[in-house]
Amino acid sequence: MLKLIVANWKMHPQTVSEAIALAREEDIDGFVIAPPVQFISDVSRVLEHATLGAQDYSEHLQPLGVQYVIIGHSDRRAQGETDEAIAKKMKLVLEQGMTPILCVGESAIDRAAGRAKEVVREQLRLDLADIRSVRRQLLAASCKLAIAYEPIWAISTNPNATPDTPDNAAHMIHLIYKELRVLLPQWNTKVLYGGSVDEYNAESFLAKPEIDGCLIGGASLRSEAIKKIMKIAKK
Ligand code: PGA
Repeated sequence: MLKLIVANWKMHPQTVSEAIALAREEDIDGFVIAPPVQFISDVSRVLEHATLGAQDYSEHLQPLGVQYVIIGHSDRRAQGETDEAIAKKMKLVLEQGMTPILCVGESAIDRAAGRAKEVVREQLRLDLADIRSVRRQLLAASCKLAIAYEPIWAISTNPNATPDTPDNAAHMIHLIYKELRVLLPQWNTKVLYGGSVDEYNAESFLAKPEIDGCLIGGASLRSEAIKKIMKIAKK
């Protein structure tokens, strides 16, 4: 089975020519690239095989050929994005025929306090609230949705980040599927893992049947890493 691999380039690279060069190197069939918003249009002109993504919702995405939109990343939540705002964006993305990738995940403090599951369940309940209330037929997309389980403490930009263990990630993702069966039965949903995934550990995550793919930040800026990970994902 082909796993879904999504690059979140975040604020990199610095210039449009670097972004175009990186996009050319990573233009691999089945790979999703979410460049910084100011480079989306230039990257879209370069890609022949890879799929275009965006790091957040904006009304201008769909005409540019964006197919996947990351919503509720922990960086944005940390800047004050509320579950209410996330729920609204989820609906807008779907109404415009694109696939949202909703990021959920607990902080180190939540994890230490034994609240990881509770936090993730609550995020799902609140962030999916608006799309639950829309009749499926009214949505332009065929109810396609992805969730990325990204424990905040595992994201490489955090101090002392370490990747989650594949067992724990699979355990949390199992729980997410259980919630989705209640919240959005019959939706076509993939659940990804994100947090310090690279070419060395990708195989251990992707080998888990529960894990449908990975959302990759830091390592996605290295095309050699992405080439290796895409080979693993297509095995
Ligand atoms: P990372 O980022 O792979 O650098 O940990 C993942 C993310 O923030 O989406």
